[in-house]
Amino acid sequence: LASTDVDIGPITVGQAVTVMWRGKPVFVRHRTEEEVAAARAVPMSDLKDPATDESRVQRGPWLIVVGVCTHLGCIPLGQKPTDPKGDYGGWFCPCHGSHYDTSARIRKGPAPLNLPVPAYAFTSDSAIRIG
Ligand code: FES
Repeated sequence: LASTDVDIGPITVGQAVTVMWRGKPVFVRHRTEEEVAAARAVPMSDLKDPATDESRVQRGPWLIVVGVCTHLGCIPLGQKPTDPKGDYGGWFCPCHGSHYDTSARIRKGPAPLNLPVPAYAFTSDSAIRIG
């Protein structure tokens, strides 16, 4: 399918779901206020692939990224409440130890780039279309 519709209404604050889009996992995370604040407090000089959190989201708490590590393509952990989220509270790639923050930006480890933001749009307050 070229695009994937996701009903985000049931995803409560702090929850995340993984959907498939063009054969790849896409992480949809309803971030807490603390996660958003942490992402926005990071100086650009701390980032390997500098990007503001604001440039990576359309609506504050909702982060939507392709869930494929930019090192060698493993799927980072951090979606389930019980998954390790790494040192920056976002995701952790167990293959070679890349740590992503609450904006899915690379913070530590061999991955060169942030998890990419796919094309998507809000089709209502409780739905998005990816692609
Ligand atoms: Fe993720 Fe190597 S594939 S750290």
